Amino acid sequence: MSESSNIESTLSEDRHFPPPAEFAQQAHLKSVDGYKALHKRSIEDPEGFWTEEASNQYWFKPWDKVLEWNAPDAKWFVGGKANLCYNAVDRQVSEGHGDATAIIWEAEPMDERGEPIVTKLTYHDLMVETAKFANALKAKGVKQGDVVTIYMGMVPELAIATLACARIGAVHSVIFGGFSSQAIKDRVEDGDSKIIITCDGSYRRGKVVPLKDNVDEAAAQTDLVDTVIVYQRCNNDIAWTEGRDVWWRDAMNAVDDHCPCEEMDSEDLAFILYTSGSTGKPKGIMHTTGGYMVWAAMTSRLTFDLHAGDESEVYWCTADIGWITGHTYILYGILPNRVPTIMYEGAPNHPAPDRLWDMVERHKVTKFYTAPTAIRAFMKWGDEHPRKHNLSSLKVLGTVGEPINPEAWMWYHNEIGGGNCPIADTWWQTETGGHMLTPLPGVTTTTPGSCCQPMIGVDAAVVNSEGEEVGTNEGGILVIRKPWPGMLRGIYGDRDRYIDTYWSKFPIEKGYYVPADGARVDENGNFWIMGRIDDVIVVAGHNIGTMEVESTLVAEGTIAEAAVVGYPHDVKGNGIAAFCIPKGDTPAPGSDEAAALKKQLTAYCAKEMGAICKPDQIRFTQALPKTRSGKIMRRLLRDIAAGKEITSDVSTLEDKSIVEKLQASE
Ligand code: WT7
Repeated sequence: MSESSNIESTLSEDRHFPPPAEFAQQAHLKSVDGYKALHKRSIEDPEGFWTEEASNQYWFKPWDKVLEWNAPDAKWFVGGKANLCYNAVDRQVSEGHGDATAIIWEAEPMDERGEPIVTKLTYHDLMVETAKFANALKAKGVKQGDVVTIYMGMVPELAIATLACARIGAVHSVIFGGFSSQAIKDRVEDGDSKIIITCDGSYRRGKVVPLKDNVDEAAAQTDLVDTVIVYQRCNNDIAWTEGRDVWWRDAMNAVDDHCPCEEMDSEDLAFILYTSGSTGKPKGIMHTTGGYMVWAAMTSRLTFDLHAGDESEVYWCTADIGWITGHTYILYGILPNRVPTIMYEGAPNHPAPDRLWDMVERHKVTKFYTAPTAIRAFMKWGDEHPRKHNLSSLKVLGTVGEPINPEAWMWYHNEIGGGNCPIADTWWQTETGGHMLTPLPGVTTTTPGSCCQPMIGVDAAVVNSEGEEVGTNEGGILVIRKPWPGMLRGIYGDRDRYIDTYWSKFPIEKGYYVPADGARVDENGNFWIMGRIDDVIVVAGHNIGTMEVESTLVAEGTIAEAAVVGYPHDVKGNGIAAFCIPKGDTPAPGSDEAAALKKQLTAYCAKEMGAICKPDQIRFTQALPKTRSGKIMRRLLRDIAAGKEITSDVSTLEDKSIVEKLQASE
């Protein structure tokens, strides 16, 4: 770390990168004054602003009222009728752009001659395929409002299945293909979902991930699932349950391609997407139709400065559709902007560490969106990989998921962006539906490490525990003071938890949405995110609830109690450290027994929760540091996990000798 801290120390906050001149001419928003005026209007005159902005999207029937706000309940574009699939796909066809490329898909494996396998779907293709699959869903009894679980690899059929749900007003619940059977079972039960769309397997670094096996395992633990539609991708051996399982191709062959889009109410539920919380089971974040449609399209257009119909535009977001980033910034925000969106099936380092850069060069990508954790991995793999390729097509770079350290920012800027691509460090959440704080390429003078300024329509502030704005560079609680169209509408089936999680820190009448991130605002008005203020760890850009990992460790059987905290990690941003009290003898640090038990626990976590949830550090201890009131002192554990000196106040600790024991436990 010493080398990187040297570099960082030379990167003071007075490093500023003004928007490149070319953007000042052609960007949607071209100047700071223009941005400021529009932002002000969007906050002071939401009716007027959103009436104009929402008119960029397709409505079967216009709304009667822009907003009804009764904190914490927002209704946007009240009375309007729209359809997310129509707005993303059919609309382009009816406006004469059926032949334009919608999706560019690239497989992970190469063909027999070692050439990449690429499939392009036009808007017309996508319309026909989603209409057919929508009919296939209907034939299986799926109706408007039913929850459809989708657990697939990154194949075009994942986009088709997702859009097909939107087409008929079914609620999709997409589960990231890296999650395990337990995650599927929990989500299926929470959403009362009777149907799962999956693949036999998916390719990841040359290996086959057995998706269908995971679905079988999940379905065996609940009576709910009566239909599993299986897309055959890998030809791997799978078990088959007659009467329940159907091949995708058979389901498609049995139906025609005529299926009009349902006219959905603006506030009809569009999808649920699960995110980890600080306690208990994952939260099913609910997004509705009209507001999300407008928010996804507007934020995509502004942040990436997308120009519909510009033949040179090729957009690529490397996320999986199983995350909100993929929902909004592969599908729902990008397709309505009529810019080809790339879907890549596999790992960034397969068959070689230059895979992504090879793709950027071949597809002449103009806008590229990835995560800081990926950037740190690219840095580790070496500069020679991007340098082998011509990346000059790139115009805007984006990052998402966690704070980007200035060193990684500079590397991205220089090695990938050739020193002249603006970087959009986008801060947002599953809950916000789309970008909330971000630089805009034609406007913002960026500073490495800062997510800069509020999106149009976002009233963000940093406040103290009384809800008063804090001073310049003073840390505090980030809040959003006004509703925005893409905001979550609730947690599926748990009204109390919705209010408790997001709206209870301040009097509810105030209507302050609390994302649970700490932040500060510098003298230039730029926001700096300082990490979570609750028991969620952002690992490789994804929320992991400490409670969930703790429960899993205990469920394995050998551990009586576990405490899980995050600590700084070179590549993943945060690592997961688990302090475990075994039921039996505590194995000595460094012993074979300790190593074996660690392996067993890690494997169990990976199996139960998915690989991203497994602890990076496990320590065995006879006790945990608790206060006299019985609370685990997590700050102390964080210091120990990070190998830092103890800075926490340990005066309330019941047994002070425990600190030394814990420090020696690794
Ligand atoms: C949490 C949300 C947004 C899709 C991916 C993650 C952290 C996200 C940034 C950023 C600093 C960031 C926050 C946030 N986060 N983007 N640019 N800078 N922190 O979605 O799983 O809902 O996680 O990720 O802590 O609250 P998510």
